Amino acid sequence: MADSARTRRIVWGAPGWYIRTVVEQITIRRPDDWHLHLRDGDAMRAVVGHSARVFGRAMVMPNLVPPVFTAEDAQAYRARIVEAIGPESTFDPKMTLYLAPQTTPDHIDAAMAAGVLAVKLYPAGATTNSDAGVARLDGVYPALERMEAVGMPLLIHGESTDPSVDIFDRERVFVEQTLAPLVERFPALPVVLEHITTSDAVDFVSGARARVAATITAHHLLMNRNAIFEGGIRPHHYCLPVLKRERHREALVRAALSGDPRFFAGTDSAPHGVDRKERACGCAGCYTAFAAIELYAQAFEDAGNLALLEGFASCFGADFYGLARNEGTITLARESWEVPATYPLGDSEVIPLFAGQRLRWRVQP
Ligand code: NCD
Ligand code: ZN
Repeated sequence: MADSARTRRIVWGAPGWYIRTVVEQITIRRPDDWHLHLRDGDAMRAVVGHSARVFGRAMVMPNLVPPVFTAEDAQAYRARIVEAIGPESTFDPKMTLYLAPQTTPDHIDAAMAAGVLAVKLYPAGATTNSDAGVARLDGVYPALERMEAVGMPLLIHGESTDPSVDIFDRERVFVEQTLAPLVERFPALPVVLEHITTSDAVDFVSGARARVAATITAHHLLMNRNAIFEGGIRPHHYCLPVLKRERHREALVRAALSGDPRFFAGTDSAPHGVDRKERACGCAGCYTAFAAIELYAQAFEDAGNLALLEGFASCFGADFYGLARNEGTITLARESWEVPATYPLGDSEVIPLFAGQRLRWRVQP
């Protein structure tokens, strides 16, 4: 159970000045990030410390160039991450395989044997580095059957790739046309619908069979689609699935604070060099790892119940994956600080979410 320290403060609000009890500090079990893009090489070395500082584990996405296709690719990538964080870190990167038309049941067996935790489905063309993904699901049924047999979870980027489908409807259409039949066809396959953005996804997951879950990012809890066009076009608020309208954000907040263990934290922190974001055709992805748990804390506090953060960020994901919850704790303190304008990213820089703005929670060293 989360531990917190409170004080009474005189604050200014709708009724004028009034006294409110304010949480000043909260200690929670060490959280995990169940959806993270770490990239590779110098960029990975530049960002991995942000996650390793706070999170016990992260589910590391496989959309490198070239992707993480095999167990050997995953083991080699994990070794590079572990080397980058150094021997004193206890951060435990969990690896994923990139599902491709050429993925066979043997690939799944080798991945299981190598400790790969899950397999990621990118519909071909849906998002960054998804060209090698799957265009026809029935082509990978043999791999999915093996995953179902051995209990290997399928993590899904859930967006329709039909170009005639409106970009704001792509998640809903995917859920209706692809996910619902998939979950029925493979009734024992563990499935995580990643970075959900709509009430349709919330409703589907809430009512689905056992072993269906979803991750929710901090930025989808904090922003709606107006943020993409606030006074001009805001490339650093552009991610996929794209931010949706306010009623969808509210549905995500309700899901995250429902205490339903099907919903847990996955940041989808996705760093891109500033040159790849601020251009005529900019990449999708928000960089949040530098303050991921602080951003979640802000969203939970805004929604009125910070104590529910621990289950969502530190317990339900581990439970879903059949892993022990982390042993240690982290402490967040109410402390106003300004988000830097940039962070280094290999030979470039990444603009963090809310650059130049103030956040009100900070993990204590
Ligand atoms: C991710 C990336 O940049 O790798 N981008 C994003 O907008 N979320 C890919 C993804 O998860 O869709
Ligand atoms: Zn992602």
